[in-house]
Amino acid sequence: MAIIIIVGAQWGDEGKGKIVDFLTRKADLVARYQGGHNAGHTVVINDEKYVLHLIPSGILHKNTVCIIGNGVVVEPSALIKEIEELKERGAKVSNNLLLSKNAHLIMPYHVALDNASEKSLGKKNIGTTGRGIGPAYMDKMSRKGIRVADLLSPEILMEKLNSNLKHVNFLMKNLYKSPVFNAKKIFAEYMEYGRKLKKHIADTDIIINDAISKGQNILLEGAQGTLLDIDHGTYPYVTSSNSTAGGACTGLGIGPSKITSVLGVVKAYTTRVGSGPFPTEIIGPIGEKLRAKGGEFGATTGRPRRCGWLDIVILKHAVRINGLSGLAITKLDILDGIDKIQICTAYKYRGKTYTDFPKEPAAFEKCVPVYEKIDGWKESTVGIKEFKKLPKNAQAYIRKMESLVGVKAYIVSTGKKRDELILLKEPF
Ligand code: IMP
Repeated sequence: MAIIIIVGAQWGDEGKGKIVDFLTRKADLVARYQGGHNAGHTVVINDEKYVLHLIPSGILHKNTVCIIGNGVVVEPSALIKEIEELKERGAKVSNNLLLSKNAHLIMPYHVALDNASEKSLGKKNIGTTGRGIGPAYMDKMSRKGIRVADLLSPEILMEKLNSNLKHVNFLMKNLYKSPVFNAKKIFAEYMEYGRKLKKHIADTDIIINDAISKGQNILLEGAQGTLLDIDHGTYPYVTSSNSTAGGACTGLGIGPSKITSVLGVVKAYTTRVGSGPFPTEIIGPIGEKLRAKGGEFGATTGRPRRCGWLDIVILKHAVRINGLSGLAITKLDILDGIDKIQICTAYKYRGKTYTDFPKEPAAFEKCVPVYEKIDGWKESTVGIKEFKKLPKNAQAYIRKMESLVGVKAYIVSTGKKRDELILLKEPF
């Protein structure tokens, strides 16, 4: 039995979808614990590309139970669309997909508030995905949120809508000068969503703890990444949930003592989408080359991702905050053909050297990265499945990364496809 948390170690988009899909071959249950349809997890099977936003990447294995936990914020029409698209493509999505009664719903006014708030911030905007994630979590924390279970209780749904819209419509009208929302219209829409989702709605905390008691293999799938975590990320340029490993326990209702290991997914370089500081960002041809070759465009919004060198300072932070047991290194092949590769080992700011992630925003924003240069490799690594078959310099790059962060690699991914990877240590 193993209960493994899969967490992004950078700013999201590390390739968690592929790693979860690969590990699901040995998993009985896969569960998402936070975020919403701001996430985009890409999986390629036999040249067919699947982009999952809310449904755990494990859904592509028909014998695995998939759970959307209480910590996730769910836009029901997005979930229904995802279910229908997967079914059309032949995936099994029935009682193998379960949705927590306690998960909060994203309402149409959350999307409007997200976009209006971004617009009002002007140049200081967060660069959100515009999916209503922040306002949905705000309602959850202020105890006004509408939850999945409310879709099955018409009176409660109507009462909450009427009450919430008083405040929302005041803001829409007076602050944002935008159209107001109609409670009856939203009620009718959401009742219909409830009817469509009913068969998936469940007490997921009980189901997952029963699975643990039976000794099943379980994967807990994080969205976004450590640096986007509301507490431990580059605040305020973060998402509104705990994307780090701790979020898996609260976002699913599992006690910390049950977790057996935490796998950090790390891209062999760094990317970030949206605004905010990014010390190792490469402005110029190498950055553009990484973006083009790595297909670095948001899986959800299509926005170009900013690309940069590997940053050991943030990775050490990720190892510490998540208690990482091992690494899954992705997209090694994208570095093929780069003559000199740089690795950031520290930051310099106002005469001080930082080897640990600085909490003062100014130090992180204005620091100058300290780089170690290492030789790249000319050969292609695409599809290599044995570590010893990697070019010597690629092997050295992996070993260097391991020694700098103090955690071993379990997996090295060498291409988009499901089987293009090197398994160094079996996590299960
Ligand atoms: P929100 O989650 O839509 O509120 O966006 C907040 C920040 O998180 C923005 O910088 C987004 O670009 C970023 N973000 C949200 N989801 C993802 C993701 O799945 N991958 C990468 N960045 C994300």
